Amino acid sequence: MFDLTAYNTFGLHVYSKDGLIVRCVEDLSKIRDDKFIILGKGSDVLLTDDYDGTVLIDEIKDLEISEEQDSFLVKAGGGIVLDDLIAKLVSQNIGGLENLSAIPGTVGAAPVQNIGAYGVEIGNFIESVEFVDLLSLRKGCFNREQCDFGYRSSYFKKNPQQKLFITSVNMRFSKGFNPCLTYKGLQDEDLLTYADIRNRVIALRRKKLPDPKVVGNAGSFFKNPIVEQAVLDKLKNEYADLPVYAAEDGKFKLAAGWLIDKSNCRGITHGNAGTWEHQALVLVNRGEARPHEIVALAKYIQAEVKTKFDIFLEPEVRVFGKDGELKWSQL
Ligand code: EPU
Repeated sequence: MFDLTAYNTFGLHVYSKDGLIVRCVEDLSKIRDDKFIILGKGSDVLLTDDYDGTVLIDEIKDLEISEEQDSFLVKAGGGIVLDDLIAKLVSQNIGGLENLSAIPGTVGAAPVQNIGAYGVEIGNFIESVEFVDLLSLRKGCFNREQCDFGYRSSYFKKNPQQKLFITSVNMRFSKGFNPCLTYKGLQDEDLLTYADIRNRVIALRRKKLPDPKVVGNAGSFFKNPIVEQAVLDKLKNEYADLPVYAAEDGKFKLAAGWLIDKSNCRGITHGNAGTWEHQALVLVNRGEARPHEIVALAKYIQAEVKTKFDIFLEPEVRVFGKDGELKWSQL
């Protein structure tokens, strides 16, 4: 049995039949099981059961930074802790990812969810993603278009059956000071360097989000829902203070945290699971939570929001059960 407590930031006590720490591409040839899943730090996953197979842990940590005339090229191993990479880039005055500071997780997991925060998504900087197809053990590489990035989505997330193990991510950052300061907490004249922005982002996150090393959680549990104009108009009529952001294709993004909060679900506790007092979108393990308690709370929240706003909240976290990845509807 392989203990997965340290490999899921909810801190749930779950196990897999076996585990393989992958430190270099060659380690992938040591897979003996035909049933496996891939995890980095498990920061965006909910493990609902012990897994009846091998869990592959990405620990490939090679890093190359090269300089071109107008930009820096960074090739980062999938197992590098994303925040360690950001700290290093910022210390060398290479900007782009500073708004993603303090997000838990690895470089290899970042393109899968196309992680984002404070107006920046990692996909904007990715030139290509290198991987090993575990079904054939062949190396492959997707350019940005093939990665098919969307809001908390990518080709890798949409096609889990393909078992692509991300070995490295190639990113390009332009030289000069080109910060993204659109988020309201970043609209401040004191933010003059990438290090200033990183520090501000870390402070903003500390205020709103629990540190998974202290309180188990997986960041935003649900995605912010995207709705059509007609749905927005109806809600705006009733709730003048509804937060709304422009989304793709003339649609609108609503704040799931606000919807949950207004459904009286912020700071609640059900068994050993709860929602965070300062950000209702974050489900937390209040102690020794069992997976089913997190699932039950998430379903309760979905039902409350559906009843009040007629909106379905789709989970952002990926869910893995006894036999591998599950659709939410299977729970
Ligand atoms: N709000 C409430 N009550 C709450 C939570 C939020 O009223 O309990 C309101 C806020 O006041 C604000 C709005 O909802 O008006 C949006 O809240 P916030 O700015 O905290 O951002 P979010 O939309 O809830 C998203 C990302 C976060 C990211 C932040 C900042 C998603 C699902 N979540 O949260 O990403 O850090 O924006 O950019 O897109 C993650 O994906 O795990 C994550 C933490």
